[in-house]
Amino acid sequence: MKIAVVGTGYVGLVTGTCFAEVGIDVTCIDIDQKKIDNLHNGILPIYEPGLEEMVARNVKSGRLNFSTSLAESIKGADVAFIAVGTPPGEDGSADLKYVLAVARGIGENMDNYTVVVTKSTVPVGTAAKVRFEIEQALAKRGASVEFDVASNPEFLKEGAAIDDFLKPDRIVVGVSSERAEEVMRRLYKPFLLNGHPIIFMDIPSAEMTKYAANSMLATKISFMNDIANLCEIMGADVNKVRQGIGSDARIGHKFIYPGIGYGGSCFPKDVKALIKTASENGYQMQVLQAVEGVNEAQKEVLFNKVKKHFGNDLKGKKFAIWGLSFKPKTDDMREAPSLVIIEKLLAEGATVSAYDPVAIPEAKHTLGDTITYAKDQFEALVDADALLVVTEWPEFRSPSFEVVGRLLKQKVIFDGRNIYDPSEMKEIGFTYHCIGIKADHKEPAAY
Ligand SMILES: NC(=O)c1ccc[n+]([C@@H]2O[C@H](COP(=O)([O-])OP(=O)(O)OC[C@H]3O[C@@H](n4cnc5c(N)ncnc54)[C@H](O)[C@@H]3O)[C@@H](O)[C@H]2O)c1
Repeated sequence: MKIAVVGTGYVGLVTGTCFAEVGIDVTCIDIDQKKIDNLHNGILPIYEPGLEEMVARNVKSGRLNFSTSLAESIKGADVAFIAVGTPPGEDGSADLKYVLAVARGIGENMDNYTVVVTKSTVPVGTAAKVRFEIEQALAKRGASVEFDVASNPEFLKEGAAIDDFLKPDRIVVGVSSERAEEVMRRLYKPFLLNGHPIIFMDIPSAEMTKYAANSMLATKISFMNDIANLCEIMGADVNKVRQGIGSDARIGHKFIYPGIGYGGSCFPKDVKALIKTASENGYQMQVLQAVEGVNEAQKEVLFNKVKKHFGNDLKGKKFAIWGLSFKPKTDDMREAPSLVIIEKLLAEGATVSAYDPVAIPEAKHTLGDTITYAKDQFEALVDADALLVVTEWPEFRSPSFEVVGRLLKQKVIFDGRNIYDPSEMKEIGFTYHCIGIKADHKEPAAY
C-alpha cells in the first residue's frame, strides 16, 4: 500500500513512521521546507523517545520519504491522511484553514481512488467540508476521480507515542462507504494482530469521539484538582484519597493525580473547541466550562503558595524550576503550566533558573533570555531561595536531598506534582509544599 501523510508534526511524523515500520510505502509531506530539509538530514522537529531511530531505519529501507510536494506525493496514494494543526481561533473554535487547504490541494492533484482521512482533531462536520473542498477542486479542473472521506482520530500520548500507535487500545474510524472501510481495515491490519479492536462508525461519531475522549480526561484532572484543593482546606491528604478512590474499578487509578493543571497542545484547545461547538449549536457544556475554569485557577496554585510562603514579597528572590515541558518525555511547551508560573514569578521581580532534560531549546522560543537555563538539575539550585518542581521527569524523583539542601539558600520545595513524601521531607528538614496536602499536615496519630 502507498500512503501520503500531510503535515509532518507530532502526529504526522509518528503516524507516517509507524506505518512505514509495518511495511507500508509512506511519504510525509509538510509545507515547512526547513522541517523537510532537516528530516532529510536525520534531524527531527520533536523529541519523542525512540522516534529518531525508527525514522532512520525506515528512511534507510526506502519506505519512509519526506517531501514538500503534495502534488507529487498524492499521486498513486491509496490513503491520504490530513494531520495538520487545528489551533484554536480567537473564539476558541478549531481553526480549519490548514485542514481545508490540504483538502483543496488533494483535490487539485489526486489521480486515482483515494481515501482522504482526517487524523487532525476536527469538529463534527469537518469531513463533509473536506469532501466539499475536494469536489470543488476536482470540478474546477474538470476531473472525475473517485474518493471517499473518513475520520480517524489519533489518541497517541506524547512521550509514549510510538507504543500508543503500534499497540493502540483501539482504533476509531468513521466511514461512509464499505470501500473506504475495507481500505482502512487493510491499512490497520498489522496493528490489530494482538487483538486490539478497530471500531468502525459513522463519520460524525468518530469526529465527536476524539473530543469526548480528551474532554473526559481533562474532566478527571480538573475534578481531582478541585478535590485536592478541598483536601488541603479540610486537612485531608489527597494522595490517600486518590488511592482510596482509584481502587474502585469504576474509577481507576489513571488521570486522577492532582497537579498544576493540564496543558499541552490538545486538552486546552479541544475542551475549548467542544464548548464552542456546543454553544454554536444552542447547547451549553456546563461540566466542561467548569473543567476549564478549575484548570485556569490550578495553574496559579503553586505560584500562590510561593507568594504566601515568602510573605507576598518575591522581589529579588531566585527560584529554581525543575521541568519546563507540559509533561515528561516530551519537549512540547504548548500551554505548559511552567510558562504561567514563570511569567508570574518574573512579574513579581523574582529571577528564575530552570532545568529540563529536553525542552530548553523549545522553551527558549517563548522565554528567550528572561530566565537562565541550567546545564543540569543541580546547577539550577545554586543560591535559589526555593525549588519548584513543575514537570515530573523521572530523574527528579529521587535526587540527593543532601545536595539539594546544600545548594539551596533555604530548604524549601514547592512540588506541583506530588512526587516526594511529605513526612520524609519534614524529617530531613525541608519545608515542603505540595498539592492537596497542608504543608503542616499531621498524621492522625500525632493529634
Ligand atoms: N500532538 C498530539 O499529541 C496530538 C494527539 C492527537 C491528535 N492531535 C491532533 O493532530 C493535529 C496535528 O497536531 P500536531 O501536534 O501534530 O501539530 P504540529 O503543529 O506538530 O504539526 C502540524 C504540521 O502541519 C504542517 N502544515 C500546516 N499546513 C500544511 C499544509 N498545507 N501542507 C502540509 N503541511 C502543513 C505544519 O508545518 C506542521 O509541521 C491537531 O489537530 C491535533 O489536535 C495531536
